[in-house]
Amino acid sequence: MNKKRFTITSALLYANGPIHLGHLSGAYLPADIFSRYQKLKGHDVAFICGSDEHGAAITLQAKKQGISPKEIIDKYHNLNKKSFEEFGIDFSIYDRTSSADHHNTAQEIFKILEKNNSFTKKTSQQLFDREHKQFLADRYIIGECPKCSAKEAYGDQCEKCGSNLNPEELINPKSSLSGNAPILKETTHWYLPMQKHEKWIKKWINEGYLDNKKSHDPKLWKKQVIGQCNSWLESGLKERSMTRDLEWGVKVPIENGEGKVLYVWLDAPIGYISATKKYTAENGLDWRKYWKKNESELIHFMGKDNIVFHCIIFPIILKELGDYNLPKNVPANGFLNLEGRKLSTSKNWAIWLHEYLNDFKNQQDTLRYVLCATAPENKDTDFTWKDFQARNNNELVAVFGNFINRVIVLTNKYWEGTVPERYNLTDYDQKTLDSIEEYPQKIGRCIEKYQLREALNEFMNLARNGNKYLAETEPWKCKKTDEKRTKTIINIAIQISASLAILCEPFLPHTSKKLMGLLNMNKIAWDSVGGILINDGHKVNPNEHLFSKIEDEEITYQLEKLNNQ
Ligand code: 2FM
Ligand code: ZN
Repeated sequence: MNKKRFTITSALLYANGPIHLGHLSGAYLPADIFSRYQKLKGHDVAFICGSDEHGAAITLQAKKQGISPKEIIDKYHNLNKKSFEEFGIDFSIYDRTSSADHHNTAQEIFKILEKNNSFTKKTSQQLFDREHKQFLADRYIIGECPKCSAKEAYGDQCEKCGSNLNPEELINPKSSLSGNAPILKETTHWYLPMQKHEKWIKKWINEGYLDNKKSHDPKLWKKQVIGQCNSWLESGLKERSMTRDLEWGVKVPIENGEGKVLYVWLDAPIGYISATKKYTAENGLDWRKYWKKNESELIHFMGKDNIVFHCIIFPIILKELGDYNLPKNVPANGFLNLEGRKLSTSKNWAIWLHEYLNDFKNQQDTLRYVLCATAPENKDTDFTWKDFQARNNNELVAVFGNFINRVIVLTNKYWEGTVPERYNLTDYDQKTLDSIEEYPQKIGRCIEKYQLREALNEFMNLARNGNKYLAETEPWKCKKTDEKRTKTIINIAIQISASLAILCEPFLPHTSKKLMGLLNMNKIAWDSVGGILINDGHKVNPNEHLFSKIEDEEITYQLEKLNNQ
């Protein structure tokens, strides 16, 4: 096998609040499925994430809660790290941008860029809050969106229509600190002249060519990702300030940088590099192999509001640095709505992961299943508690769980847990056994195209086929009359179960572990799945249910909680 290397990133999560289902379905679960799959294929994977701890998102939240930024980030970094672990998101590292190592890496990179003349320095008039004696960039300024007329757009982005903005574009701007209209005041900043990069970025995104070399296949990029980039490119790339007049952040490490920090969208993606450095140092590896000389495929997972930062701004920085890899793909997802309404943390219209984990003990995989089955891969989708219940009860319990339950119960009941042998195979038996072999490839092809919903559906087809096989062969009926036939059927059903145990791992890692335990088997490589995986004479363990039914009361409780929170 040709062993490949992947550097997989999930957008660094702002440490200003807990993780909700929208975050999971956009950036974290898809990346985890992809990275677990690549690991099972035998590839080397660095799966990088962490907390984004700078920028106005943090300082404004701290102000709102009347505590320091440090208290905010410590609280949410720890909470989120724990929730991710419990949910089974298997990061190689969950780092943080407040660490001294990250500050050093970000400052080093800033100095290299400055030395390379990647920036231009410019003095201009900027919005300023007189009362708070502070310049107002990004979320510090609120006003009407010039694109969709939403009333509360931020200086850098409108959350309603997703447009990326500059503070000067806002209509009737107001300081989010004092609520006052700002005045103009002079200040000096370092800018990234993105207009200089327009030509190669266009070619790279749309044709996949970089410096006349093929660097990715644009057909594998999602249409909405390319579409969003092109709509930015059509209005012309402009210079963008890479520094801010703020206290909280990575200090500008050069002359005249006093009182200034790096723009959070420069510092955060560099966080992927610092986190890789830390992970590799702790594991005796070389970080350069994950970032340089095309020795690794860089894949960024995120929600659609992060597209331009990962497809345009960060690639410009990487190219300016010289020998860094550009992303091979940026499979951004749309947004997940909740019960027909846009998810909103400020309006408390969200389902928080730590609360889910508390309310649904040991049912992480039900949520993983539902979020994958309804992922906003190509358009925004909706999460409803009723659908969650139906998918758990009608699919996980009634199909996958039911099949495994029958197989393990019958093996224990008839032969005290010993896997029986196979005798003569009918055409149907043979066809069933042969068909298992196709699933690793079928599922894998979908995952490699970032079609995770379809991949999960293919996986469930194997479980459905297992159920169908038992329903048609009815081993419980021939037990009294034909022992050999019964043994053959259960042996085949055991082989299907073993394949399911491995193939479900990217999607349902807790279930995979549990099922491997029931079957008393070890993990094997993805490509070894299919055919005969368990020999006769092997002992399986007593049955335990893989999934449990979710009752109406549990759903009513969740709906009430959501409506009253
Ligand atoms: O939008 C966000 O939630 C940002 N914290 C994402 C940062 S991604 C990266 F560049 F680190
Ligand atoms: Zn808007």
